[in-house]
Amino acid sequence: MDEPQFYLDTIEQVMDSEVNERMLEAMFYEFLELQHLYESAAELVKTQLSIYDNEFSMKFQRNPIHNIESRIKSPQSIVGKLQKKGFPLSARSAREHLMDIAGIRVVCYYVNDIYAIAELLSTREDFKLVKIKDYIQNPKPSGYRSLHLIAMVPVYLAASRQEVPVEIQIRTIAMDFWASLEHQLHYKTNSTVPPELRDELQSLAGTIAETDLRMQDIYRQINDL
Ligand code: GTP
Ligand code: MG
Repeated sequence: MDEPQFYLDTIEQVMDSEVNERMLEAMFYEFLELQHLYESAAELVKTQLSIYDNEFSMKFQRNPIHNIESRIKSPQSIVGKLQKKGFPLSARSAREHLMDIAGIRVVCYYVNDIYAIAELLSTREDFKLVKIKDYIQNPKPSGYRSLHLIAMVPVYLAASRQEVPVEIQIRTIAMDFWASLEHQLHYKTNSTVPPELRDELQSLAGTIAETDLRMQDIYRQINDL
């Protein structure tokens, strides 16, 4: 958890003129509430995912999920993204315009597991899937592959029910391996990767995708024995 002062510093940094203390304090509490809300939404999705994982393991003696990571966007990146997109700098504006404040990454064993997990999530009527981007069927030009969902998750607070967007990235171990290394190499940095290396990375992503399917096929054949 970030220190309170950090929020104030972040907000103060991006506002050029005198912001009075009361305004800063109000913003600080808004951001704290925001963090609680998105953390709660992420927890709900993670809990549902482990229920599926455990049920699957009980029934089929195999876990579809290798691991789950989650993160809440830092106040600094929230403010940075709002600024970049030209939106007002407030917690309210962040709730309205940013869909990836809460992010969950689900790493599966096999490609089929990805779609099974997505399908299961969609059966929960209160997790409304508002956006699906299938970068497995349609990889990004970089070669990036994953299934991205945005789910609206209900969070029940003491006095209200809030719908909170959670970005869920679902991928295989192999896709995660590629994405992690490629991210380190250049995603969102200023260092440009030479075109021939970019091509090689893209081609490696294809090789990895093919390997993923071959591993899945081996699993299927062994399972059928
Ligand atoms: P953002 O403004 O970056 O959130 O883009 P967007 O709203 O268009 O979302 P998109 O579906 O592109 O997904 C963004 C997220 O997917 C990033 O934060 C990364 O985690 C991941 N991602 C997308 N493209 C790449 C890529 O080429 N390489 C890697 N390593 N990750 C990627
Ligand atoms: Mg993002």
